Amino acid sequence: MKIALLGGTGDIAEGLVLRWSKAGHEIFIGSRSDEKAKKIASEYIETLSKLGITPNIHGMPNADAARSAEVVVISIPPEYAASTVRQIRDSFTNQIVITPVVSMVKKGNYFMYTPPPQGSCALEIKEALPEGVKLVSAYHNLPAKELSKIDKELDYDVVICGDDEEAKAVVKKLTEDMPKLRALDAGPLEVSMMVEAITPLIINLNLRYKPRHFSVKFV
Ligand SMILES: NC(=O)c1ccc[n+]([C@@H]2O[C@H](COP(=O)([O-])OP(=O)(O)OC[C@H]3O[C@@H](n4cnc5c(N)ncnc54)[C@H](OP(=O)(O)O)[C@@H]3O)[C@@H](O)[C@H]2O)c1
Repeated sequence: MKIALLGGTGDIAEGLVLRWSKAGHEIFIGSRSDEKAKKIASEYIETLSKLGITPNIHGMPNADAARSAEVVVISIPPEYAASTVRQIRDSFTNQIVITPVVSMVKKGNYFMYTPPPQGSCALEIKEALPEGVKLVSAYHNLPAKELSKIDKELDYDVVICGDDEEAKAVVKKLTEDMPKLRALDAGPLEVSMMVEAITPLIINLNLRYKPRHFSVKFV
């Protein structure tokens, strides 16, 4: 598939770009800076080429990346995610949009979930998107560092939620293109607040039990 990552130059995007490239998808790295996007794209091409993979990765401004893709990941920090979507609103037509966005605050040596007034980051982003764009919430609980280790199998569950069954099926398939992630459908987009809230809990545990990289697995 053609997949764009807005803020595709950042941490969570790295593993997604590398793993989806390995699975044969075409990737559009979006950025506020065309130059930065192209530089990061060429770095990922070099990394993958050394592993014998011939990737199809392009770097460009966020708006062009969104327009080029069938699936768009909002891999931008929570404070800027909805505003970035609003700025490039015209680039969205009928894509599937994925939000891994989680808002949290540091209190001393631990983190707490701080949802926006809409109730979750997913609902805030939905408000910023044009009507009819299918939004799926996913990947909140994946640690970026582990995801970027391209050859490491990840025995984690990815909880996804959204209001469009076909869009969720696409995201399930894209998730399971990354060995050995299992996608679990948790229901409508409204549920996203519960999935998002797990992320600061995982980070708190990872800080206490270094160098563990906890994520989520339902047994
Ligand atoms: N890191 C993780 O382990 C992890 C795990 C699960 C979910 N998430 C979620 O994924 C999202 C991205 O996290 P991340 O750790 O990848 O973030 P990040 O590396 O800090 O930032 C990602 C990209 O966002 C863009 N950006 C930064 N400031 C911006 C602004 N003011 N306006 C527009 N774009 C801006 C930058 O791209 P350009 O400078 O190229 O524009 C940056 O490379 C967050 O919402 C986070 O909650 C992260």
